[in-house]
Amino acid sequence: MKKKMVSMMLCAVVTAAMVTGCGGKDAAQTEAPAAEAGDAAEEAPAAGDAAEEETSAEAPEAEAEASEGGTLVMGTNAEFPPYEFYEGQEVVGIDAEMAAAVAEKLGMELKIEDMAFDSIIPALSSGKVDIGVAGMTVTEDRLKNVSFTDTYATATQAIIVREDSEITGADDLDGKKIGVQQGTTGDLFVSDITEPERFNKGMEAVMALSQSKLDAVVIDNEPAKVFVSEVEGLKILDEAFAEEEYAIAVAKDNTELVEKINTALAELKEDGTLQTIIDKYITAE
Ligand code: ARG
Repeated sequence: MKKKMVSMMLCAVVTAAMVTGCGGKDAAQTEAPAAEAGDAAEEAPAAGDAAEEETSAEAPEAEAEASEGGTLVMGTNAEFPPYEFYEGQEVVGIDAEMAAAVAEKLGMELKIEDMAFDSIIPALSSGKVDIGVAGMTVTEDRLKNVSFTDTYATATQAIIVREDSEITGADDLDGKKIGVQQGTTGDLFVSDITEPERFNKGMEAVMALSQSKLDAVVIDNEPAKVFVSEVEGLKILDEAFAEEEYAIAVAKDNTELVEKINTALAELKEDGTLQTIIDKYITAE
């Protein structure tokens, strides 16, 4: 019964990804000789003024172009390493750097707005932000409210438990106290098994787990790895939930922007820039 639910959910996510035509797997196959990614990365995801000034000093060309093309506002939830997180005052990570590289291709200047994860789609709909880049999984439900670009990464929902836990897989989660980040696919999956405890930040759930206030946390596999490396006494189970695909979300039916971003993404995959960015934040096991 529970197993069936899990595989049904898997179908839903995979189907959604297929609808948008996913290209996420290309990235992994691309060689990564690009040299620029590193630089672009450090300057672009600037949250504060100081960083913007630095950008103009070090990359005059990009800056000149950028001011002509206007600002591309990215909504994110910077509680999700290695995709988006704070380094001092600055939002960095795979999404921040990828979005900066996309903005540069579009001749625009990237501005990052940090917000609650479940505020990103409303912010797109109201025009407060232009793109949602937040390790956001393509789902059928979200497609009712936003459009997605081609995909750029794959993920699974990992199950984190304490090292001494008797939980070995999704089948053991029924009736347990499971923490999730509010409004995520992890929230969705767990909600089908049992009522989850919802947190604003994934790390808050992980802390509660380490303090034995929860029995498990379900969250995307890469953030899971980061959190488990930072908090003692936790492990990630081998069994994970369905595979998902991340894409950039855009206001529904803004096909022009989707197409422009897809062109930029294809170039960044092709020339290895995207892979270089990923490799900077995720070390292969
Ligand atoms: N991939 C999951 C989802 O789309 C979780 C994303 C959470 N992202 C974040 N920046 N907090 O629902």
